[in-house]
Amino acid sequence: MSAKKVLLSGVKPTGRPHVGNYFGAMKQFVELQDSYESRIFVANLHALTTCQDKVELERNTQDVVLDYLGIGLDPMKTTIYYQSDVPHVTELAWIFECITTMPYLMRAHAFKDAEAKNKEINIGVFNYPLLMAADILVQDADVVPVGRDQQQHIEITRDIALKFNRMYGETFKIPEPLILENVATVLGTDGQKMSKSYNNTIPLFASDDEIESAVMGIVTDSGQDIPKNVYEIHKLLKPERELQKLYAEKKGQYAELKKELIKDLKNFIGPMRARRVEWESKPEEVEKIMSEGGKKMRKVVHEKMIEVRAKVGLIHNE
Ligand code: ADP
Ligand code: TRP
Repeated sequence: MSAKKVLLSGVKPTGRPHVGNYFGAMKQFVELQDSYESRIFVANLHALTTCQDKVELERNTQDVVLDYLGIGLDPMKTTIYYQSDVPHVTELAWIFECITTMPYLMRAHAFKDAEAKNKEINIGVFNYPLLMAADILVQDADVVPVGRDQQQHIEITRDIALKFNRMYGETFKIPEPLILENVATVLGTDGQKMSKSYNNTIPLFASDDEIESAVMGIVTDSGQDIPKNVYEIHKLLKPERELQKLYAEKKGQYAELKKELIKDLKNFIGPMRARRVEWESKPEEVEKIMSEGGKKMRKVVHEKMIEVRAKVGLIHNE
């Protein structure tokens, strides 16, 4: 076994990723894969809370795998797998459900938001943080790179680990979130948080045409020297010192600045898009990566679950 610390994270397959997802969370997966024992999964069980269309779930799940490979996750360094290939997490989530109170989970932001919108909330949405805790704790993960909006889920995970350890004896490691402060919230083309729900995204694997139309659609207020919404996206791609010079030279010339941003976005997205297309042409190889990833992870969590079952008093036969 390697002495490296364990990094774990996942992305829910709910549609095309955007530049905000990348800079807020996914970029770290790639940058950290050399320094950690990295495990990145497709959170398809979590996606079931909102997607009950078989074809759509399957397609989105496969898309996330290509997205991972496209951004540069290297299967030789990172174990990539489907959450549903490690069904132990649902068993562990059940055990967590039995030591967690309703009022405690009712404080979760995601649940409160859903409730405020008067949505008919399924139990999966309510229990979502416990399945996430199981994903993380069953692997004894040390660090979990996520965007800011997942911070509370990691706090809940830590609370559950502490509670279980108190009740049954030292069992789970207490994981740390890894949140990049400067990109905690990437802004979209309208200046709000970039989000699929706001229709203000730049898709991560956008075509050149899509890049152009998204940038042309960036909202600018006339009369500003620096079009703030253009600058905010641009600063993800270029060092601020260079950018300040450029924006000073082209003060007030919105169209020119947008052209510069289009050029930089094309240079940034182009190679990732090409890599994704290449993986897309090798479905057997991708399938093999995923099946090996699942097998490897099942082996890892098997021992942990034997320990957990014994600790809580679940008699179990192999
Ligand atoms: P969306 O809001 O578009 O539906 P998700 O909720 O699927 O995005 O988020 C997936 C991951 O990307 C999470 O880790 C989240 O924190 C991160 N993320 C999403 N939007 C942004 C953003 N605008 N800035 C930074 N990180 C983001
Ligand atoms: N809830 C996360 C999101 O929406 C996805 C996720 C599920 C996750 N399980 C996880 C992230 C475990 C990190 C670790 O983005």
